[in-house]
Amino acid sequence: MPKFTVVLRNGTERTVEGKAGYNVMEAIREAGIDELLALCGGCCSCATCHVQVDEAWLDRLPPASGDEDDLLDSSSHRDGSSRLSCQILLTPELDGMRVTIAPED
Ligand code: FES
Repeated sequence: MPKFTVVLRNGTERTVEGKAGYNVMEAIREAGIDELLALCGGCCSCATCHVQVDEAWLDRLPPASGDEDDLLDSSSHRDGSSRLSCQILLTPELDGMRVTIAPED
């Protein structure tokens, strides 16, 4: 199972292990990290699962859908590394990835 690093808003790092079929948001929530509100439960309609993905991993992710892109536009903290974590399916290739929970909007 892929393991990845999550940087919390206070700078603390946590290693999270994802189960098969989980997305990044689900793995983070399952690990007991509640900074990621994920209000819509992963339906790509809230943007409260916003993370910033380390540069080295961005190219390995499938591009954001139009809906994801539109939702990210609603965040004042969007930058070039922004993604919605519920839209990133964990695969073995993402082992070692590093994501930072975006500041709250
Ligand atoms: S959990 Fe709502 S968009 Fe990801």
